[in-house]
Amino acid sequence: MSSELSGKICVVTGAGRGIGAAIARAFADAGAQVLVTDKDENAAEQVALEIGGSSRRLDVSSEADWDALKAAWPRIDVLVNNAGVTGFEENAAPQDPEHASLEDWRAVHRVNLDGTFLGCRYAIAAMREAGAGSIINISSRSGMVGIPGAAAYASSKAAIRNHTKTVALYCAEQGLAIRCNSIHPAAILTPMWEPMLGDGPDRESRMAALVADTPLRRFGTVEEVAALALMLAGDSAAYMTGAEFNIDGGLLAGSAATPSRDE
Ligand SMILES: NC(=O)c1ccc[n+]([C@@H]2O[C@H](COP(=O)([O-])OP(=O)(O)OC[C@H]3O[C@@H](n4cnc5c(N)ncnc54)[C@H](O)[C@@H]3O)[C@@H](O)[C@H]2O)c1
Repeated sequence: MSSELSGKICVVTGAGRGIGAAIARAFADAGAQVLVTDKDENAAEQVALEIGGSSRRLDVSSEADWDALKAAWPRIDVLVNNAGVTGFEENAAPQDPEHASLEDWRAVHRVNLDGTFLGCRYAIAAMREAGAGSIINISSRSGMVGIPGAAAYASSKAAIRNHTKTVALYCAEQGLAIRCNSIHPAAILTPMWEPMLGDGPDRESRMAALVADTPLRRFGTVEEVAALALMLAGDSAAYMTGAEFNIDGGLLAGSAATPSRDE
């Protein structure tokens, strides 16, 4: 067990399952005091029980929830803005730029982008007294390239990438050692993929098709993303800020695939 985060207070959003839960686990294993947050209070509580951390309901799109967190946890060392939605969770309505509804577009931005903005704002205040800290924003490969069928998701993740750099420069300008970096995963096997995979007989072939363009030809694991977050959270990454880290099996290393076309 490493002690890289010993004595540090770490908050992770959307940590009731998937990548966020794995990050919370890795941080606890590295000696941190972890606050597991999620809009799903029960899921957060289960993870906190398992890792010996604390839990709290936090809807990242709610300013009131962040204000309440600030009152309860005024000083922290690490924040991971992980909570995110694709837009396909609630309904199967189209999310392409021609047919997406304004309400669906805004709903995705409220969670992914507003949530990250509010999280960064809270973290800067909660790290200012110590004058140091690490903010890690979970963007996506979709923040680097266009996604024809998921316009709001791609737009919100691209905006997270840029806001990360603004936060990093703002903190540096103020003489604060508060670092802010973004992680860009692709094809990490978590419940987020379930609506796209389904549980029918073609599940396996759908999975294979989804990673056919990935040079490493497999889905990534949540533990692999957590290992990167752990590195960025700790003091060994003290000179890294405003940077973006791809974790995508090599997907963004080559030229982009041409979007499919119905002939
Ligand atoms: N899985 C992937 O392949 C992949 C790829 C790129 C980026 N990401 C990003 O990684 C992050 C985590 O993804 P995941 O695959 O673990 O997702 P997931 O759907 O498995 O888990 C997301 C968690 O966020 C919580 N959540 C949703 N809306 C929330 C809100 N408003 N406030 C607080 N919590 C909320 C959910 O309850 C859930 O526990 C997301 O930001 C996602 O966009 C994932």
